[in-house]
Amino acid sequence: MKVFVAENYDELSETSASIIIEDMKAKSNITLGFATGSTPIGTYQNLIAAYNAKEISFKDVLSFNLDEYLGLPRTHEQSYYYFMHNELFNHIDIKEENVNIPNGDIEHIEENIKKYQEMLDSNPIDIQILGIGGNGHIAFNEPGTSFESTTHTVKLDEKTREDNKRFFNDISEVPKEAVTMGIKDIMSAKKLIVLANGESKAKAVKELLEGTKSENFPASILLDHEDVTLIVDKEAASLLKED
Ligand code: PGA
Repeated sequence: MKVFVAENYDELSETSASIIIEDMKAKSNITLGFATGSTPIGTYQNLIAAYNAKEISFKDVLSFNLDEYLGLPRTHEQSYYYFMHNELFNHIDIKEENVNIPNGDIEHIEENIKKYQEMLDSNPIDIQILGIGGNGHIAFNEPGTSFESTTHTVKLDEKTREDNKRFFNDISEVPKEAVTMGIKDIMSAKKLIVLANGESKAKAVKELLEGTKSENFPASILLDHEDVTLIVDKEAASLLKED
């Protein structure tokens, strides 16, 4: 795993965006895997700036997203569909038909998962951006999830609901379930960029780099991937041993 400790969030975001921009220049019909949450927003702002500067175009890009809440309509401001459009897709030239986000419509969930998995299996992701949860989750694969998992529904960990309640009026509004790409799907991406920002991620970053591989800490599987770049800011790196 390559590890880059950035001076601050701006440098973290510029570094991750520059990897994506370079690969987009080399392959215009690249398949990108996006993540939601606070951490990748700066990366998306850098991608939008590069698009505005005509450095890159998304017109031939295919995209996937890691996960989505169950039961929130796509128009809900906290749905990941809404987030991705608001933070990135509405500002670039990606085609809506090339955007794949798991659909959290509970009524058709089995059918939607099947379709999503088929799309993923036939379109390998070139670069997947990934955050890491305070409990080591990747996407919504909570501790205890099989490393062999594919797209599935999950009951969200209380820690995750607590972490995400800042986006809602009250914890009672945070959905209890979600649909997520599985760990095997994430590991199938050719390149992974893992981002962690701030002191609240310091323990998880330490566990990732200094702990052992275990399904109780889903991110630990990333050590087995041959092309992972972990980009952290100084606060997220603050508990790492100096060497
Ligand atoms: P965050 O979430 O970017 O909002 O910290 C990351 C995650 O929980 O995967």
